[in-house]
Amino acid sequence: MEPQLLIDQDLCIQCGACVDDCPFHIIALNPEYPELLPQRVHHCIRCQHCLAVCPTGALSIFGCDPHQSLPLPQSFPDPQQMTALIKGRRSVRHYRPEPLDAEVIETMLRTVANAPTGKNNGGCLFTVLEDRATMDQFRAETMAGLRQAVVEKRLSADLSYFRHVVSAWDNGRDIIFRDAPHLLIVSAPPTNSTPDADIIIAMSYFELLAASMGIGTLWNAMVKWAFSVISEDMYARLEIPSDHIKGYAMLFGTPAVTYHRTVQRDSAAINRIRLGPQGNKG
Ligand SMILES: Cc1cc2nc3c(=O)[nH]c(=O)nc-3n(C[C@H](O)[C@H](O)[C@H](O)COP(=O)(O)O)c2cc1C
Repeated sequence: MEPQLLIDQDLCIQCGACVDDCPFHIIALNPEYPELLPQRVHHCIRCQHCLAVCPTGALSIFGCDPHQSLPLPQSFPDPQQMTALIKGRRSVRHYRPEPLDAEVIETMLRTVANAPTGKNNGGCLFTVLEDRATMDQFRAETMAGLRQAVVEKRLSADLSYFRHVVSAWDNGRDIIFRDAPHLLIVSAPPTNSTPDADIIIAMSYFELLAASMGIGTLWNAMVKWAFSVISEDMYARLEIPSDHIKGYAMLFGTPAVTYHRTVQRDSAAINRIRLGPQGNKG
């Protein structure tokens, strides 16, 4: 989509912030007010930095009204809140059965769509299992597929624990899906510059946003591994395009467990580098 720049000349103070922050230099003051440079406009990566950086809300691009944006920075959580969120989010393995409101899920995913992607040249696809019946059917199909792999002795040594997963399922325990009401799989087209990273970033943002809303999540490698055992057709069942790079699955829903404090895993491996005469490696 070609960018369209609209300037409210009553608000524009001609500060040039939009010109300076545009990563591909497609805007110039011409001579007083910002304008797109026709010879550079095709470089636009639709990042909307021009809209975000304008101090007076004078600039609209792609038809976006700057007054519909959240005001910054006062809308940010403070560092203490962010620290509590990062340290306090947990992998939730116990869920209440009731599903979340579909509108809540959609609003969350629209927010997560703001996460960075490599060159802003394509978003991720968010595939969500939205209701209980779909989850139940999908769970049953996955377990049936795994059972078949066990019977046909198709499990490699490193995935042999799926035998235990199937027998736990027969005893009423769901080790893979943890009885969660929802499943999210994020995928991205290979035409994105950095699809693998885009997916993981989007999922990480989803996890943190969910935690801030009291919604539990569980990153789930087991679903991905189960699909690799059963068949890639499992993604087709979920209408995920076959050429997409697929991320991990993530379970989510209302937690049936409460954590009263953070864990204490603060020992980060930090490789401190200071080059030069004052540094320890100079
Ligand atoms: C990529 C990834 C895949 C994971 N897969 C699973 C999984 O399949 N099943 C599971 O119970 N936990 C899974 N986890 C959760 C980890 O076991 C969990 O993060 C770890 O035990 C630490 O617990 P915490 O997240 O509550 O801090 C996964 C985590 C990540 C990051």
